[in-house]
Amino acid sequence: MGLTQNEYWDKIAFDKEFFTPFQIETFKKSVKKEARVLDIGCGYGRTLNELLLNGYSNLYGIDFSKEMIKRGKLLNVNLDLIVQKNRNLPFKDNTFDAIILLAVLTCIPFDKTKDF
Ligand SMILES: C[S@@+](CC[C@H](N)C(=O)[O-])C[C@H]1O[C@@H](n2cnc3c(N)ncnc32)[C@H](O)[C@@H]1O
Repeated sequence: MGLTQNEYWDKIAFDKEFFTPFQIETFKKSVKKEARVLDIGCGYGRTLNELLLNGYSNLYGIDFSKEMIKRGKLLNVNLDLIVQKNRNLPFKDNTFDAIILLAVLTCIPFDKTKDF
């Protein structure tokens, strides 16, 4: 196919919709509304938007696809979304109370990853 993973997600960033269910009721039982939440591989911020609608406000997303992040920012300017540049997450230890990793490890199209 010739694309790296980042290039693949960039290419389809504005075309694909994600539907993997997020178990919001289960999440709400374990994570307080004021918690700082990081969504790794957040895509265009689908899950963070659902959390926002459910009263969470300390929401952060990171994704190695710059186009996904661009789409996410266009959809909701209130979300704090950043592009992941390398394997190291750009946050200090203990910054977050909860981490989400949804539909990331189950959606790896191929092995090659640029700059990682
Ligand atoms: C199927 S989408 C799911 C997006 C989001 N979690 C959701 O459920 O709506 C997978 C996302 O993971 C991102 N991703 C995959 N591997 C990653 C990695 N190693 N670091 C950061 N983001 C990654 C992709 O760019 C893509 O946006």
